[in-house]
Amino acid sequence: MTKLMDGKLVSSQIRAEISQETEEFIKEMGITPHLLVIIVGNDPASMTYVKNKKKACEAVGFKSTVIELPVETTENHLIELIQQLNEDNSVHGILVQLPLPKHINEEKIIEMISVKKDVDGFHPYQVGCLVSGMDCLKPCTPSGVIELLKYYDIELKGRHAVIIGRSHIVGKPLIQLLLDENATVTICHSQTKDLSQLTKSADILIVAIGKPNFIKADMVKDQAVVVDVGINRLETGRLVGDVAFDEVSTKASYMTPVPGGVGPMTITMLLRNTLKAAKDLQSSSLSI
Ligand code: GUN
Repeated sequence: MTKLMDGKLVSSQIRAEISQETEEFIKEMGITPHLLVIIVGNDPASMTYVKNKKKACEAVGFKSTVIELPVETTENHLIELIQQLNEDNSVHGILVQLPLPKHINEEKIIEMISVKKDVDGFHPYQVGCLVSGMDCLKPCTPSGVIELLKYYDIELKGRHAVIIGRSHIVGKPLIQLLLDENATVTICHSQTKDLSQLTKSADILIVAIGKPNFIKADMVKDQAVVVDVGINRLETGRLVGDVAFDEVSTKASYMTPVPGGVGPMTITMLLRNTLKAAKDLQSSSLSI
């Protein structure tokens, strides 16, 4: 029988710790961690994500601000706003919800966010720190995956972890985080030849490609640990992952559900990063 890796349960425990730590930080320093989220346009999925982030912030005692900008907002206007927020000492975390409208260059916007406030961990400097083993704000979804595996005592050392999907947000940073845990890592993508042969060799299979029910039971090794990062909405309105849950769950030893697996962990890691950013900014202001 597959054991479910319950992201809601693990998140609620980590969020309780964050809440406690936040209370102590506020008491000690008189500073309330503050996450500011910018959303451009009104994509319904993005609006839901932003609403969930705000709710999660408030539940652990953070201040949360959402700036909603119209879809026709110019790149220059967004850059000016970020520059102001970089200078604003009352803001500790800045998150620009992606995707942005096509006329705005996402890479340019990410680079504008102060490294110290980049709670997504997307800035090229943070990426460099991650790969170099330096202290950094780690990208939320990949660190949520690792936390979930650790909570369930899943051995990573020496085991073969196969990632499917090479995005900047999930696949690529996961390589580093898994290497940090001494796993042997393979990354696959749309041009990979004989994908099944690689997925079947995985002790830990992590799928982040955004294709509903793509991974079938015959692509998975018996007793593998399967982490499904995908969240896809079918025409029926139902949310499903990248893994065909019903059939793969007959083979996997551990598996994440969708929803309720990796999704809640991503927001939890965002909370952790925001608290870290607030603490780091506070201590660097003391050392100036
Ligand atoms: N859009 C979907 N996921 C994310 C995320 O983790 N961060 C940002 N900024 N935008 C997203």
